[in-house]
Amino acid sequence: MYNSKITGLGRYVPDNVVTNDDLSKIMDTNDEWIQERTGIKERRWVKKDSDDTSATMGAKASKIAIERAGLTKDDIDFIVFATMTPDYYFPGCGVQVQELLDMPTIGAIDIRNQCSGFVYAISVADQYIKTGMYKNVLVIGSEYHNNGLDKTTRGRGVSVIFGDGAGACVLSRSDNDSGILSSHLHSQGKYADKLIVKAPSIRHWVQDIAKTENDDSYFPYMDGTFVFKNAVVRFSEVIMEGLTANNLAKDDIDMFIPHQANLRIAQYIQKKFALRDDQVFNNIMKYGNTTAGSIIIALTEAWEEGKIKDGDTVVLAAFGSGFTWGSVIMKW
Ligand code: UT7
Repeated sequence: MYNSKITGLGRYVPDNVVTNDDLSKIMDTNDEWIQERTGIKERRWVKKDSDDTSATMGAKASKIAIERAGLTKDDIDFIVFATMTPDYYFPGCGVQVQELLDMPTIGAIDIRNQCSGFVYAISVADQYIKTGMYKNVLVIGSEYHNNGLDKTTRGRGVSVIFGDGAGACVLSRSDNDSGILSSHLHSQGKYADKLIVKAPSIRHWVQDIAKTENDDSYFPYMDGTFVFKNAVVRFSEVIMEGLTANNLAKDDIDMFIPHQANLRIAQYIQKKFALRDDQVFNNIMKYGNTTAGSIIIALTEAWEEGKIKDGDTVVLAAFGSGFTWGSVIMKW
């Protein structure tokens, strides 16, 4: 068995900043409510006339990650792309990145696991490397949310939360003991309808769309309070699961990067695990919830700001639609 380690990180967010005050001009909401409930001050939203999509933003972040790994596109053996906002039903965004970066005809898969998408994606890449199948796997998390949100007052409980953006990393075979120690994945389809977008889908054919223009099922639905309550429980469980599997204690965590769903969730976990501010990295204040993009954008920013050092124990954890949740424990 080989070890796998992140050798390059990259991120890309659109230029267009949308503040809470901007949102209050198009729906009945306000900065105070959004900040108090979610911690979000602003988010990035792709502009209508922009070429940015989940695939193109993912490709931009990937370019940076590959360069920072000291590799070229031809060194990448496989692509794992996590998104819940693919450019098309099919094919997936992974194959688009393969084309956009002019890569050889390597394999590419999309992971459809919403907020847990990046954790699932990196765990998949990890297996390929540990077994010796691949040496360098490109792992991407990218979301273009705003085009699919209900931006009227009806959708305010969901639409104020989400932002657009992408992150990417190269996971490479490593000769030393550092790198990913383990990953822990779960799901509970029983609660699939608690955070869901029902249409368009194979059950809602395009012909139906014309007939039901006012159907709010075209927009994501979320039972926010229910999701919140489950999130804090599952986050704690899956972090403990990871620590225990590696004979680590809470005190061993040098950096915790939670999925950026809600600052209140991150703060709850921080308090529960008695972590200092410098042991947790949050950037939801600037970007909102970028779903599969959130952890990898935050990890990249934390690393860029020098907050992660060689030998650090880094914990990633996510929870979201599915329900799905997971953690990754790594030695940097
Ligand atoms: O990323 C995937 C996983 N997702 C999560 O982990 C998110 C988990 N859930 C949450 O973060 C929170 O539930 C929310 C931030 C989404 C909502 O906060 P909440 O404290 O649960 O609020 P609520 O939905 O219970 O709504 C409270 C009130 C309602 O008014 P009434 O019925 O009390 O009169 C809403 O209509 O706030 C109202 N409201 C708003 N007001 C202003 C809902 N959205 C807004 C808004 N602006 N944007």
